Amino acid sequence: MTEPKIISGFSKLDRLQKIEWLIEQLKLDKETLEQLNRFQLSEQAIQQLIADLSENQLSNFHLPFSVAPNFRVDNKVLTFPLVTEESSVVAALAKAAGYWAKRGGFHTEIIGTEKKGQVHFSWNGKPEKLSESFSELKEELERDVAPLTQNMEKRGGGITNIRLKHLPEVRPNYYQLDVAFETCNAMGANFINSCLEQMGKTLKNWAKANGDFRDDEKEVEVIMAILSNYVPNNRVKVWVECPVEDLDSDADQAHALAMKFVQAVHISRHDVSRAVTHNKGIFNGIDALAIATGNDFRAIEAGGHAFAASSGQYRGLSNAGITNGNFWFSLEMPLAVGVVGGVTSLHPLAKLAMQIIGQPSARQLMGYLAVAGLASNWSAVRALVTTGIQKGHMKMHLSNILNSLQVSDEQKQAAMLYFQHREVSFSEVQNYLKEHAK
Ligand code: MEV
Repeated sequence: MTEPKIISGFSKLDRLQKIEWLIEQLKLDKETLEQLNRFQLSEQAIQQLIADLSENQLSNFHLPFSVAPNFRVDNKVLTFPLVTEESSVVAALAKAAGYWAKRGGFHTEIIGTEKKGQVHFSWNGKPEKLSESFSELKEELERDVAPLTQNMEKRGGGITNIRLKHLPEVRPNYYQLDVAFETCNAMGANFINSCLEQMGKTLKNWAKANGDFRDDEKEVEVIMAILSNYVPNNRVKVWVECPVEDLDSDADQAHALAMKFVQAVHISRHDVSRAVTHNKGIFNGIDALAIATGNDFRAIEAGGHAFAASSGQYRGLSNAGITNGNFWFSLEMPLAVGVVGGVTSLHPLAKLAMQIIGQPSARQLMGYLAVAGLASNWSAVRALVTTGIQKGHMKMHLSNILNSLQVSDEQKQAAMLYFQHREVSFSEVQNYLKEHAK
């Protein structure tokens, strides 16, 4: 590989100059420009909107925008918009949706919608001195952030709590202003961060002006002010349930499925190797819906994984059991999302996705995301404890191989038939195509 030179001011070059630099430095094909242009949109206004989402945009990276119908959630029937690169995910979600629509559907319950953030700071003084004057500080903090919170308050949100935490076990003299927020239909990241940064400034000024503090106590070092993606009190629970015998038309199969399924989920709650993969299967569904609706899937993942480890051991996020002859399967996890602002209101396909899913409130979307997680988890674990995962995956894999080999529709259909009960691999498909070209 050719190593590029260090460049300063790259972001200031225009798109074409950036591409030229890349071609020259990395000795890329001359067709690179054509290739990148092919994926640019012809509609200028939308292309500009997409380009402005990120720095140094050269082209657009397309992923399938798909839907899975038949989601019955709290007795409402919904179609889920989904964006994912993994071929089996949408099929898995659609299958789970159809299956559970006939068995009472998915149920949701919002446990809380509290978002959090912290001002991290150091202060050299007696902790009691700070806690004694905290109510005075709190008043100043509230007064100074009022211009920032007034709009959110009109919508029913704002700052719901400010606590002072002394954490000498982390660092000597280390404190936090631990702040709770209600951000209604917004993800609220900008709102929260602006409030926290203002609080950092207020804190410094307040200490400086405090007549009861010695000179060295007047200095507060604000280390950082930032929201937390750990939001255990911004939590939702979703579940499905039905009599065990309703799981399959064959009673023995139904019982076997329930027992094996519960076992598999139990393993994920105790073994970290399995738990990580189990949760990955949950995020297959959540991320696909989060991306389609313009939500920050990294924030959701980070918060979800931290919650999975909140007992001190990383566990599977879902749970399952059989109670009084009823099979139940549930998922409880934090999900901080928004339905206004950010990419949700900007990206034309995210806007369409929101229409497809019925313009939910943030609370409803929390439930739908968790439902997508539970649905993909259901399909994955069900496949694992019955046919195995490769059967479904291989069909998709075969289709991808055939597409990459650019076969005709006719050849594709014949190959799909041929490999229906045979092992799929790239070389096997190549051999088959060679033989059948003769
Ligand atoms: C693959 O993307 C996801 C699975 O590995 C999840 C699981 O094992 O439960 C199938």
